[in-house]
Amino acid sequence: MRNFLVAGNWKMNCGPEETKKLLQGIKNSGISIPETIDVLVCPPMISLTVASDELKDAAGIALGAQNVHYEDNGAYTGEVSTQMLNEVDCEYVIIGHSERREYFGETDQTVNAKVKKSLSDGLRPVICVGESLKQRKAGEHQLIVRKQVEAALTEVDEEDAEDLVVAYEPIWAIGTGETATPDQAQEMHKMIRGVLSDLYASNVADNIQLLYGGSMKPHNAEELLSQPDVDGGLIGGASLKADSFTEIIKIAD
Ligand code: G3H
Repeated sequence: MRNFLVAGNWKMNCGPEETKKLLQGIKNSGISIPETIDVLVCPPMISLTVASDELKDAAGIALGAQNVHYEDNGAYTGEVSTQMLNEVDCEYVIIGHSERREYFGETDQTVNAKVKKSLSDGLRPVICVGESLKQRKAGEHQLIVRKQVEAALTEVDEEDAEDLVVAYEPIWAIGTGETATPDQAQEMHKMIRGVLSDLYASNVADNIQLLYGGSMKPHNAEELLSQPDVDGGLIGGASLKADSFTEIIKIAD
């Protein structure tokens, strides 16, 4: 059985001070996180140290970054390495978010390099895939997402695949208030599970958590999370307020 994973991607919101406040808000909400739910927060890089300190007494909440480089170190201005993320207790790293693909030149090749580097250095990648509205309207959405998943997992072996998380985020649903219907989400997640089963043994593919992302909110989380292949959410806007984030955790329970 797969645990649900409720993950907050804070994007470029919350410097160190606000990070502290938001995490204190989550802790003070009194929520107790059951063992069947994994919870993850991904603040901006500059806030990871503060978040790591703040989470020391917060059982059940893991820390992740929003990006990483695929080299160990060197002349890569503005980048951070897997080792640096490990040093501040990150367990996860988001890789290939559509905003990075669109604005920062992330490609299927760099996504693959980052996934492999993260896995070899003990970080769990949350690999983001998803189609544009134009691609969906043209009926290409399944093909596009299949290709993104296959490219991200090139040369990723079965042993490492156990640590993967895949997030399906239709670009047209991100930050727009428009959500994929539960059927659309399930259809895509089932297809992704099929791709994983083609690549890995079925027990491995069956254990990989598949998240839905794109305007997931307390009012629509229940329907989305009730789909058989939707194992959680990668939540943007609604993860920036302690009450809506904890509400979604409660719904997942
Ligand atoms: O990574 C999170 C997604 O981009 C979803 O963001 O919940 O604000 O639509 P959103």
